[in-house]
Parts: sequence; structure tokens; C-alpha cells
Amino acid sequence: MAEIRLEDVRKTFGKVVAVRDVSLTIEDGEFLVFLGPSGCGKTTTLRGVAGLERLDKGRVFIGTRDVTELPPSKRDIAMVFQSYAVFPHMTVAQNVGFGLRMHGMSKVKIREAVQQASQMLQIDELLDRYPAQLSGGQRQRVAVARAIVMKPQVLLMDEPLSNLDALLRLQMRAELKRLHREIGTTTVYVTHDQIEALSLGDRISVMRDGAIVQLDDPNTVYDRPRTVFVGGVIGTPPMNFFHAEVVADNAVPALKVGAFTVPVPASLRQAVEGRIGGMLSVGIRPENIQVHAQEAEGDVPALVLVTEPLGAQQLLTVEVGDDVLKVATAPEPVLEAGTTVGLALVEEKLRLYDVDTEQALS
Ligand SMILES: Nc1ncnc2c1ncn2[C@@H]1O[C@H](COP(=O)(O)OP(=O)(O)O)[C@@H](O)[C@H]1O
Ligand SMILES: [Mg+2]
Repeated sequence: MAEIRLEDVRKTFGKVVAVRDVSLTIEDGEFLVFLGPSGCGKTTTLRGVAGLERLDKGRVFIGTRDVTELPPSKRDIAMVFQSYAVFPHMTVAQNVGFGLRMHGMSKVKIREAVQQASQMLQIDELLDRYPAQLSGGQRQRVAVARAIVMKPQVLLMDEPLSNLDALLRLQMRAELKRLHREIGTTTVYVTHDQIEALSLGDRISVMRDGAIVQLDDPNTVYDRPRTVFVGGVIGTPPMNFFHAEVVADNAVPALKVGAFTVPVPASLRQAVEGRIGGMLSVGIRPENIQVHAQEAEGDVPALVLVTEPLGAQQLLTVEVGDDVLKVATAPEPVLEAGTTVGLALVEEKLRLYDVDTEQALS
């Protein structure tokens, strides 16, 4: 196990800046997730750690070693890719033991290590089979076993579950989490799936356009997105955003949307000082808007446009003035499209963003 440190890492492909001066310390034993849309630089950053890309500038440290100039084989890392990349002409046992054979380990020791890794991944019954005789999920387990059998200092995974169907993905996600708890290897995990990121990460590094826009634990990333972009990347459906004017309501700052005002939460009053009369972007999660079938005093009236029964909750698309919001509420009572409901925003969950920079006020 070891800490990983990136210092000012930059990688370009012609005119494309894939990784934009990224600095980051991944703690010893941490499970860190890179999350972001396709093309934001997750894979390139990971390949930089692995030594599969030559950096334009910057340095990579694993533990106390500066590995910037070292080839992948000298970095004490193991990698798992989206494509299972298992050798079709080798049995499961031969696949899992491949790296150890290359290292010249004795047959007895290899058998022992393969057995142990295979048990962890629950493929020990399959050791004599060939990959063609395995399901996709089993093949991916072989790839993971082949990586962890090396007892690397660092485990790097690039969208390892993307090729699996939804149910298997769910199972494997929990298994990877358990595996990490057992072996404790410093892990960097790339995904564009925000649920995977929330579920697996000790911390999530949200990337956009080659740069890290937020690096925090999952709850913080979810509850306090640093930018409008992050609020949109995390959460299904994503955070709602609408524009509001900052007004003074009896000397207390408030947010005015159309005919309605909501007080600025106490924790943000200082942040809006000097912004009276200006506009802000307001962010609020769908589950932080309370819905009343009977409009109550102080509620904002809204028209239900669409009702989606999603089992555990009811997802509403509602119209408030010029804005359309997503609201998650209890499955009962069913609120039909066309009805008018009352909305109450959970004040302490309101997040405020500068309209131009899209950065959170705090
Ligand atoms: N080998 C390459 N040659 C040219 N451009 C590349 C190469 N690899 C990645 N890129 C570009 O670098 C950017 C980041 O890519 P990548 O790291 O694969 O993103 P992600 O993994 O987040 O989808 C993209 O614009 C991509 O097109
Ligand atoms: Mg990628």
C-alpha cells in the first residue's frame, strides 16, 4: 500500500489538453473515484499514474518513489480495464497466475496465491475453465483476481463494470467494496456512473475538461456541489437550478422568484452581502422540495406537468412560474398531472451560485 501523489500533471494530445495541471494526493489505503463525463480526462489521468502515458509535465509519486520516468512494470501497480482483457487460450488459473509466473515465482507459491485471490473473487470453482466458458461477470472477476494476486501497492481500475448488465453491476459494486475493505490497497477507480462513485469512493474527484472541479467525500459532493456543473453531474435527477433576485425583506436577505420570496438560509446571509438587487443561481435537490397536496400558508403554488411512479418515490415535473423543477416525493398520495400543489423548499438545503462563474457562495 502507498500514497499516490500527482504534482502539476499535464498531458496533451496535439491541441487537446486531456489533463490540465492536476495536483492531487491519494491517501494510503484510500479508494478514490474519478468521476466525470466522457472525454474529461479520467482515463488519461489514470494512465498517467500507471505509466502508460508520457506526461508533458508534472511528476507522479507512489509512496516515496518518484515514478515519473518508470515504466508500468516498475511501478508496483495493477490495472483492471473495462474490456476484460483475459487471455482466451489460458485457463482461469493460468490467467490469474500470469503475472506471478512472469515474476518467476515458484509453482507451489503461485498455486497458493491464485487459490487465495480466486476465493476472494469467488471464482475458485472455475479455475480449470477457459474464458469462453465464463459469463461476462465471471470474466471480470478473473481480471480483478489477476490484478490483486500481485499484491500491488496501487490498484487502478478504469470503468471495470461498464460492460456488465445492471444487476451484475450492482453485485460487483458491493463486492469491490468488500474486497477493498479486505485488502486495503490504495485504489483509483474511474467511472462516469455517479451512483458507482457515491457508493464506492472514500472521496470523489469530479473532473471537467481535464481539471478537478471538486474533491470531497461523497456526502459533501452530493450535498454541497462546489459548482453548478457538479450539481448536475451527481444525483438522478440532478440538482434543480433556477435564477432568483436577491432582495431585502425587512432587512433580511431573501430570494425572489417571480411573485415569491424565500429567506436566504442563515448560513448564507453573509455570502449574499453586497448582492442585494443582483441575480443568483439557486440549487436545490429534488428531495429537498416538500410537496403538499393542499397548498399551505407560505407555499409556492406549482402545476404538476408529469408524474412518474418510481416505486420507492414519486418523481414530479412541476412548473413554477417560468421554471420547471424535478421534485421527489413519497409514492402516496398520487399527484396527477394537471393538479396544483404547494411546494416548500427546505431552506437549509438551498445552495447559491454566482450566475457568471457558477461557483458556490459559502
Ligand atoms: N491517444 C489519444 N490521442 C488523441 N487524443 C486522445 C487520446 N486519448 C485521449 N484523447 C483525448 O483526450 C481527452 C480525454 O480523454 P480520456 O482521458 O479518454 O477521457 P475520459 O476517460 O474521461 O472519457 C479527450 O478529448 C480524448 O479525445
Ligand atoms: Mg475513459
